[in-house]
Amino acid sequence: MRMRRKAWTEPELAACPYFIEQPSAHRGQWRELFEARQPVMLEIGCGKGVSTAQMACDNPGVNYIAIDEVRHVLAVSVRNTQAAYGDETPQNIVFSAVDALRIHDTFSAEDGIERIYISFPNPWDERAKHHKRRLTHPRQLAQYRAFLKPGGEIWFKTDNDALFTATKRYLGESGFEIAYLTDDLHASGFAPNYVSEHEQLYAGQGKPIRFLIARMLDAPSADASAPISFPQGEG
Ligand SMILES: C[S@@+](CC[C@H](N)C(=O)[O-])C[C@H]1O[C@@H](n2cnc3c(N)ncnc32)[C@H](O)[C@@H]1O
Repeated sequence: MRMRRKAWTEPELAACPYFIEQPSAHRGQWRELFEARQPVMLEIGCGKGVSTAQMACDNPGVNYIAIDEVRHVLAVSVRNTQAAYGDETPQNIVFSAVDALRIHDTFSAEDGIERIYISFPNPWDERAKHHKRRLTHPRQLAQYRAFLKPGGEIWFKTDNDALFTATKRYLGESGFEIAYLTDDLHASGFAPNYVSEHEQLYAGQGKPIRFLIARMLDAPSADASAPISFPQGEG
């Protein structure tokens, strides 16, 4: 469901010390934005940041970067984060507006990202020609490989079977191994699990939550290492 633009979005983002206005200007230097030198993890498509806020607050020994392409959704994320931290200004999380389809403009290997979280992305399952917009499509995975640390991980959740099945294949084709997988995260006992807005919604409807952790191997297969072309319009 599309969220209405809020009048307070721009003033609140402008006033937020942990909202980064020009993400590509920090390419290769994201670690400088944090006081503490510690592992850096990236959430792509954080939405309203329900799980992001709690995860960052509970894990002060990790630095988090959370991105989404929609600014008024990010403004809600900032509000949720501030609510989780109370009077304290968060020191271990930053937010930014980034279109993940061009994420290579924003992150590089020097950023040393150890883990990527992707939770409940749009499945783009109505038309095959739209599959390339999936956040787990091989052309996305090739971009992630360029900035993930060796052995880095992708933590992926979805309620969508077609997307889950395709993602397992995309990962295998792109030089990732599956390190953990469950077809029912909430019955699995996996912990800690930070429940996102959409996870809460789908689990509430009785849908099992599919979850996997993929680990980057040294070299992708020949196909996945082929040069990538980036989407222009529909693609
Ligand atoms: C269904 S919501 C899931 C939000 C959250 N992860 C959750 O689990 O509740 C998908 C989110 O991905 C964001 N998104 C979709 N395509 C994106 C892209 N190309 N780059 C960045 N964010 C994107 C949307 O704006 C939206 O906030």
